[in-house]
Amino acid sequence: MRDTDKNTDNRQVDLDDEGVHWDQAMSYGQYLNLESLLDCQRPLSREHDEMLFIVIHQASELWIRLCLHEAHGAAEYIRHGDLRPAFKMLTRVARIQEQLINAWEVLVTMTPADYLSFRDELGQSSGFQSYQYRELEFLLGNKNARMIEAHRAHSRHYDRLHEVLHAPSLYDITLQQLDKRGFDIPDDRLERDWSEPYIASSRVEAAWREIYRDTETYWDLYELAEKLVDLEYNFQKWRFSHMKTVERIIGYRRGTGGTGGVSYLVKALDLQFFPELWSVRTLI
Ligand code: HEM
Repeated sequence: MRDTDKNTDNRQVDLDDEGVHWDQAMSYGQYLNLESLLDCQRPLSREHDEMLFIVIHQASELWIRLCLHEAHGAAEYIRHGDLRPAFKMLTRVARIQEQLINAWEVLVTMTPADYLSFRDELGQSSGFQSYQYRELEFLLGNKNARMIEAHRAHSRHYDRLHEVLHAPSLYDITLQQLDKRGFDIPDDRLERDWSEPYIASSRVEAAWREIYRDTETYWDLYELAEKLVDLEYNFQKWRFSHMKTVERIIGYRRGTGGTGGVSYLVKALDLQFFPELWSVRTLI
């Protein structure tokens, strides 16, 4: 049996015995813009596995979108020395990264033959051109000015990447906090050309050593350090799984983006966002 109820704006809303609203002004699909979202999967071939390939990339981009939202939010809180809300956001980024890492398990159900059946359709498109991924790398501190060249043709993406490239990274902001808390951070790590890659410093390493050796006194900074390590650890796991998945699916072919393929992805494993947070572990 259904009955009706008055909504706050006086519209008649159908309810059943359990109070379910059947006829709503704002539906699930409208709120989530589902028709548009589910209209974005448009395979170029008739091959069954192309749908998986598209969905996994789109889902990853959505998760990266949320990572950016959370990591920018965390950077803002750290900048103001308000670490507790930042911890929550950084924890969320780490959980999202776990989703991104697990996604490879779905993708590896695609064999080399499955992929080759539609690979030509991709032309020169490649994850290398993911502007969100590049923004996340810049925000975390992997500054490489050359990487924005791939986006020159698209001014909105180019300008955004240019802005984040030239702004302090999450780690730069963290070091500024250490300075405010009285640690001896070199001046040229506190103010510099932010678009240049960060170079590790023994004085920064000494600051972290003090924090790790006296966690009682510096509990919040110690916790911040471990949250950052979580992010970098997960990022590397993602990079490694990507590289192994690519090796498994295309072997040592060149990438559609024009790089050497696996050889390019292996090199990325040497990158570090927070170098002293790794080197300090030998010294504690
Ligand atoms: C069959 C699956 C995949 C293959 C064969 C593949 C292959 C490659 C290759 C060869 C590169 C190096 C650039 C190039 O020459 O194209 C690359 C880069 C990249 N791929 Fe994939 N990929 C796959 C799936 C994915 C997925 C699901 C994502 C998720 C978003 C992704 C994101 C990226 C990103 C962000 C880069 C740039 C990495 C960097 O510059 O460090 N890839 N991919």
